[in-house]
Amino acid sequence: MTPIRAVKGMNDVLPAEIGRWHRVEAEFARTMQLHGFREVRTPYVESTRLFVGAIGEGTDVVEKEMYSFVHHDEPLTLRPEGTASAARAYVEHGVHKNEPVSRWYYVGPMFRGERPARGRYRQFHQVGAELFGDAGPASDAEMIDMIVSFLAAIGVRDSEVFINSLGGAGTRDRYRAALVSHLEPKKDKLSAESLRRLAINPLRILDSKAPADIEAVADAPTILDFLDNDDQAHFDETRRYLDALGTPYKVEPRLVRGLDYYTRTLFEIKAAKAILGAGDTVVGGGRYDNMIEGLGGPKVPAIGFAAGLERLLLASEATPETPVCDVFIAPHDKTGAPAMAAALVLARELRQQRVACEVETRPSSMKSQLRRANALNARLALIIGDAELSENTVTIKDLAGHTQDTVPRDRVVPIVVDRIVASESRAIAVDRGSPAKGNT
Ligand code: HAM
Repeated sequence: MTPIRAVKGMNDVLPAEIGRWHRVEAEFARTMQLHGFREVRTPYVESTRLFVGAIGEGTDVVEKEMYSFVHHDEPLTLRPEGTASAARAYVEHGVHKNEPVSRWYYVGPMFRGERPARGRYRQFHQVGAELFGDAGPASDAEMIDMIVSFLAAIGVRDSEVFINSLGGAGTRDRYRAALVSHLEPKKDKLSAESLRRLAINPLRILDSKAPADIEAVADAPTILDFLDNDDQAHFDETRRYLDALGTPYKVEPRLVRGLDYYTRTLFEIKAAKAILGAGDTVVGGGRYDNMIEGLGGPKVPAIGFAAGLERLLLASEATPETPVCDVFIAPHDKTGAPAMAAALVLARELRQQRVACEVETRPSSMKSQLRRANALNARLALIIGDAELSENTVTIKDLAGHTQDTVPRDRVVPIVVDRIVASESRAIAVDRGSPAKGNT
């Protein structure tokens, strides 16, 4: 039979790689907690209508990339992003009635049928956050600064923040009209895709990578010239707060992003092109003050962002968490059975004391068991052989210190716990650069 392979653009993450994922996810959860965000989990499948309405019909995501299907007459879609789902949940549960401001974060898989490349997949993972109930620019600046600290914490170097403002509906209508008047005389030169978009979603043309389109928009007016007074004040204040925080950014007046729900502040963070190639945007986000109302909820402003976990991992220098195996238990007697039973019982007692153990459950020589204990990076190996069984003892071998002693069976659990705790505090002291403490 031809071996079955994973679906194109959808990847396995094997245990050997998961340490770096955990590291980044843990740092993200920590950043979120420090800023008052709490985790939300929404379904991976939603009504297709949700994404079409919230993201916009003329977007690449809705037009080309969604995994949609009909199940029992119900049009459904695998979520391509997390914002629409979070907003739907916020409205559905009437969250605004319980609190004026809600700070939510999420981590999980998203699905877009894009052409796979380095950093671009069909199932990818996002860490993201949404803040509901605050229209003010301080939350825009604080969110951008929060992401920048998170990127620093996971060792993403050379990242650059780009910001823009799309203004409110009035600003965008005036800008759209100006952009169309600019492009109309050049429409013969536009790519077929942009020509189609001129009528339905002209702002998307600013994002086109086709050389003819890039040329056509090169001297187009920018949206920043069309901001009304309130939009301008919001943008200026966001910048003032970013300056006060010392968060570097560049204003990019052509930044539009690929989703239609944005209003006012918009931002992207790019990492070094050398590492990420075409998919150099690691973070995207912005304000979407009309979505909650558009979904049938009250008028509640919102802002959020998402980062692709795979892209963060490509760009980050985060080292993996080392898997912990505190203790390896090596049962060894002539028949196998009594030593194995004693090993299983001892392992359970140690785990009840939160000591991570592995028992060698396959029959093998003591030499190969100790080799395995070293390969697992275990701190201690506990040997239960014929002599230990007959004397009711256990031999403790310190694998780093190369020492060993034999202790009574009824004392082994507290002794092992003490030694593990002592070696942990020694490791922490070394990590922090202070002299090692501990008595074993
Ligand atoms: P987005 O720009 O579509 O925004 O995606 C955010 C991030 O997800 C991108 O910057 C990228 O790192 C990652 N990403 C997107 N597509 C792929 C892909 N095919 N493969 C790998 N990574 C990918 C959003 O999704 C918005 N929901 C962000 C947001 C939240 N805006 C407001 N709140």
